[in-house]
This record gives sequence, structure tokens and C-alpha cells, in this order.
Amino acid sequence: MAEIVLGMWTTHGPTLSTTPDEWLLRLPADHANKAHWYQTGRYDFATLVEMRKSEGLAEKSSLDERTKRNAACRAAMNEMADVYAATGSDVAVIFGNDQQELFNDALMPAFTVFNGEAVWNEPSSDEQAARHPPGIHAAEPGHKPPVYTEYPGHPELANYLIGDLVSNGFDITRASKLPRLENHWHSGIGHAFGFVYRQIMRDQVCPHVPIITNTFFPPNQPTARRCFEMGRTVGRALKAWKSDARIAIFGSGGMSHFVIDEAFDRKIFDALAARDAETLCAIGEDWLQSGTSELKNWIAAAGALFETDLAGEVVDYQPCYRSEAGTGTANGFVYWN
Ligand SMILES: [Fe+2]
Repeated sequence: MAEIVLGMWTTHGPTLSTTPDEWLLRLPADHANKAHWYQTGRYDFATLVEMRKSEGLAEKSSLDERTKRNAACRAAMNEMADVYAATGSDVAVIFGNDQQELFNDALMPAFTVFNGEAVWNEPSSDEQAARHPPGIHAAEPGHKPPVYTEYPGHPELANYLIGDLVSNGFDITRASKLPRLENHWHSGIGHAFGFVYRQIMRDQVCPHVPIITNTFFPPNQPTARRCFEMGRTVGRALKAWKSDARIAIFGSGGMSHFVIDEAFDRKIFDALAARDAETLCAIGEDWLQSGTSELKNWIAAAGALFETDLAGEVVDYQPCYRSEAGTGTANGFVYWN
């Protein structure tokens, strides 16, 4: 039987692939946004500043702090990549989301399993780059290769997982080719996956199955519970797979953003450490909006990994603030081996 030998949870946001100065490119958008999600409500920038004035966020978003937090994230990413390389897994399953990269409102599946031979990605064209929101294009080398690149899929495992998921009540979308949308801002696999290829696998991408979830876009986002149960089904199927493969599982996304909530993120770490499925499953939709919704990929990976005997620690947690309103991206890294 196949063996799950590694589990990794990682964030993948632009703060991991840009300089502390470049983090501030998002500030004008922070000020312009009248409805930032924070906890279960929506607030403008000035209201967030007032609500959080006792937290010392101006200090926590100073250049000195941003520089320290950026360096700590890079060290954590290196540790994750070193562990991945040392483990020697030969197959991977990656739970990630699509941020209207492959799919848009014309077609937005809830869960998609990629069952093709090749996942492709490529750098943005100049025209695409001009459409990117401020501060996003600078992060591109962190999740896109410098030239058109194909990475190996795993059709046999993907079709086995699709069959198993369907027989367990998950009506799965399948994709054997990644779509190329006309006049679209992006082409190729989304950043949730590209980040793992580039930064954790260091472009040494093993045959793998991307499982793509719509965590962001209403009204068909699967709930936390549904994501956990989907991941648990995948984990059970992997352990029963008649193969001698050594499998790595990734959950890519989160943590709280674009307004950081450290207490919420700690709750996620605590639930992972305690294998506390119910806490993860009970997180309501109003807590899992905007970028924070990507933690559903962590929850799916937890579903797959809680029933293994793997164990490990938090490598690091860095709330990467860029403003006194608490805007930014919280970064976290965990592995179990
Ligand atoms: Fe993301």
C-alpha cells in the first residue's frame, strides 16, 4: 500500500515573494477598500485603525519589523523546502484554491481534481501584467516560472481519487487540461500551486494531483466541514491505494488576510496540534471570507493527515503587517513527518 510520509501546511501570499518595501504597494488599495473583512464583519480602514489602536500595529508594521518578519518567513520557507527535499516523497497531493486564475464567474466549480498529464504555468504577458492589482505583479516569480513550464500530473492517482470521492458522495469536477481564458489577467495554474512548486519543491515537482477548491467566491464555496470531509476521504483513499508510492500532502493558503487576526490563526495551529477536527469543521463561513478563506485548504489537508501517525511542529508564524489598520498577510508554516 501507499504511504503518506509528509504533510505540509503553508501560506503562499505575496509578502513571501516581495521585499518589505514592496509590501507597501498594497497600501493605497487598503485605504480605498471600504469593506475589509475582519473577524465576522466588514470595516473601512479608519474604523479598523480605531478598533485596533491598543495593539501597537504602527510599531508592528514599521520597516524594521517588516524586515525582521520577512527574513523569518524566508528562513521558514527554506526549512520547509529542505524537509521536502530530504523526505524523498515521489507523489504529492496539493490542496489549493483558485483565485479566478483558471476559473471565473462563467464557470466556477466547487471542487476540481486535475487528472491530466501536465500542469502548465507561464509568466504573465505585458498585457496581463498591466491588469494586475498593485503589488501583485512584483510577487510573480514566487509562484510562476520564468518561461512556459509543464509539471507532471498523475492521471492514474487522480482518476482513482475521483472514483473514490464520487463513491463517497462528493460530486467532483474533473479537468484534464488547464483552460486558457481569453482576455484574462492570468494564465496557467493558480498561485496556490505555483508557490508550492517554486518555493517548497524548488521546481523539482514530483508527479502530483492538484485538488482545486473555490474557497473565495460566493455562492458555491464548500464549507469548512465539507473541505475537512473531502480531505479525509482523500487521505483514506491514499492509504488504501495499491502502490508503493511515498506521498506528500500539502495545504496551501491563508492564514488571516487581508486583515490579520493573530488569535484566529493561533486557534488553527492549536486545532492542528490537537487533531481537533470539530474545531476546524465548526468554523463558520463568516470567519472564512476573503483571503482567510484559503485556510479551507489547510482544513482539507488536516482531514487527510489527522488519520496518519505523522506529527510535527509549527515552523514559524509571522503576522506580516503593513499598516496600523492590521492589513497585511499572516504567514504560517507547519510540517508533519
Ligand atoms: Fe492566495
